[in-house]
Amino acid sequence: MSYVVINAIEVPRERRADLEERFAKRAGDVAKSEGFEAFQLLRPDNDEAGDRYLVYTRWATKSAFEAWMAGSAFGRGHAGSSGQRPVATANQVWAYEVVQHEES
Ligand code: HEM
Repeated sequence: MSYVVINAIEVPRERRADLEERFAKRAGDVAKSEGFEAFQLLRPDNDEAGDRYLVYTRWATKSAFEAWMAGSAFGRGHAGSSGQRPVATANQVWAYEVVQHEES
């Protein structure tokens, strides 16, 4: 079964547009990585989600995710951050094994 890794990032309200613009210009290399299945950038929309955006990724296997993290595509995927003021004030990485999956 697949493997999901979510990067949960705290982004102040006034930086939301900046964050979304950075992702709009993202490298897109993640999709070319072996074992990649899905990517979503999720904008918070209730009080409990707060200021926490989620970067959702799904992979065929845990090792496919680890290989992307360890490889140059991860660096290229984050190159936009260098030289710019960081948009995120904090982050947490959450990893999950997919137990069941259904999609229309
Ligand atoms: C300190 C930790 C991290 C921060 C602050 C961060 C922030 C960002 C930002 C701002 C971008 C947009 C591109 C850019 O401006 O460079 C990006 C791209 C991306 N991030 Fe992160 N990120 C972090 C770590 C991670 C981790 C651990 C994952 C794993 C799920 C992840 C998944 C992605 C993906 C899939 C992209 C798009 C890459 C592509 O299109 O090839 N990030 N990240």
